[in-house]
Amino acid sequence: MRRAKITIIGAGNVGATAAHWALSRNLGDIVLLDVMEGIPQGKALDLLQSGPVDGFSRRVIGSNDYRDSVDSDVVIITAGLARKPGMSRDDLLAKNVEIVKSCAEQAASFSPNAVLIVVTNPIDAMVYTAYKVSGFPRQRVIGMAGVLDSARYRTFLAEALGVAPRDVNAMVMGIHGDNMLPLVRLANVAGVPVSDLLDAETIAGIVKRTQHGGAEIVNHLKTGSAFYTPGLAAVEMAEAIITDSKRVMPCAAWLEGEFGISGCFLGVPVVLGTGGVERIVEFPLQDEERAALAESETIVRGQMAATGI
Ligand code: LAC
Repeated sequence: MRRAKITIIGAGNVGATAAHWALSRNLGDIVLLDVMEGIPQGKALDLLQSGPVDGFSRRVIGSNDYRDSVDSDVVIITAGLARKPGMSRDDLLAKNVEIVKSCAEQAASFSPNAVLIVVTNPIDAMVYTAYKVSGFPRQRVIGMAGVLDSARYRTFLAEALGVAPRDVNAMVMGIHGDNMLPLVRLANVAGVPVSDLLDAETIAGIVKRTQHGGAEIVNHLKTGSAFYTPGLAAVEMAEAIITDSKRVMPCAAWLEGEFGISGCFLGVPVVLGTGGVERIVEFPLQDEERAALAESETIVRGQMAATGI
């Protein structure tokens, strides 16, 4: 079988960290691409040299030339400016739309069969930009956010419960922003509903902390935003695609009637396989969940309009 090829556009914190996680999983050969000369080359060489110690046997190169990305199976777009304290994800929109446009255009022309995973913020607007510019079918343009936001939600629940994080099943739907929807009704520990294990006030606090999980880290870092878990979340999606695992993860997908919404990217549970989003897992929402998702939709539609695309 041909080795998978993964191009990561943007050799900043998120991109380089994604390359690190992907190599450590021996997922495929990596091309780390950036407009900055020297940065992707230096980081790639450093990562390559961890192979003998970590045990992976895949290649990683750094490049400033899209020709090196040709025929990638998965392209992860991380390029763009990151949030600084006091900056919302929306403040980034105008700046990052131009960057993502150019990345998606070139990625699509050099890798016409790839699945694009968009990480650049504001994710919901940037994945829309990549979708429109690439001309790819909706199955092959996916936004990373749900895996990250759900990981934060699961972490906080696990801490409150004193249990292993992996045994907490919980999902965040909707926008990657303050109006995201951490689902309480479906959150469980090895099948036991968290609402039977934690009081309502504790759960409400965790929901709020999850919704502001990105800002909490920006406030600590001061000069940028989170990158370890964002990088890993993108790799988790890429792995499901490359291995055709059919794993179910919350991702930003283009909706065409699912959950009663059409023509909008929103975080929803999807089945990931070779084709990208192979299926959207639709299920009945309760009234307040539906209302929360509608709030996300309104904000994402505003962002989509603001891209000017
Ligand atoms: C966060 C940024 C990446 O949520 O949006 O950490």
